[in-house]
Amino acid sequence: MKSISDHWDTLFSEKEDCELGWYESDVSRTMELLEHIDGWKNKTIFLPGAGTSILVEELLSHGPQLILNDISNEALHRLKQKLADDNHRTFWLCQDIAQTIQQKIPDIDIWIDRAVLHFLTDEKDIQGYFNNIRSRLKIGGYGIFAEFSTTGAEKCAGLTLHRYSVEELSHRLGDDFQLVCNFDHIFINPRGDERPYIYTLFKRIKA
Ligand SMILES: C[S@@+](CC[C@H](N)C(=O)[O-])C[C@H]1O[C@@H](n2cnc3c(N)ncnc32)[C@H](O)[C@@H]1O
Repeated sequence: MKSISDHWDTLFSEKEDCELGWYESDVSRTMELLEHIDGWKNKTIFLPGAGTSILVEELLSHGPQLILNDISNEALHRLKQKLADDNHRTFWLCQDIAQTIQQKIPDIDIWIDRAVLHFLTDEKDIQGYFNNIRSRLKIGGYGIFAEFSTTGAEKCAGLTLHRYSVEELSHRLGDDFQLVCNFDHIFINPRGDERPYIYTLFKRIKA
């Protein structure tokens, strides 16, 4: 059986970015949430499962330092090639984000997840993901989570999903986090199908 990293490597190596089922040419919904965060352009932003998203180039054009994670070496390789010389404010972390981050990286001000957390379906993996947030995100920092909503499709990229409500995200983050705002968004995938997401912004208020 293929490992999960092989699964993603294959998807990335077989298609152009714009053919990938989750490809978005407009990242304005994420940018809207960032605008709630004072001084975000000077912060350290962590992107779990960054893939080859154009969000990376959009963020870099505004000045923050980025930590770019993915389980797929192929995705990170392609992303590095796309950034070419524009990669001096980037750290790279190729690992399963459900596993404890061991690598030395800067403390994180803002964690931005689009369409990654919902691929973790084992409770142990989900807890591992949230443990990384708790150990790496600064107090006063923010988390943006854009995931398939409970009314969304049950599968993506050939994998079964754990879909989210705002209530479940709030519960999993616990009392240390406060919901700042949230909205529903219908993403239209490259095949023209509707994919309902929830977008949420949380602030870490204590340890
Ligand atoms: C649906 S894509 C989303 C990519 C990007 N966030 C975007 O919005 O375009 C999911 C991404 O998460 C990565 N991924 C999946 N499981 C992961 C895991 N356990 N740890 C880290 N990355 C993972 C995949 O390789 C892929 O790049």
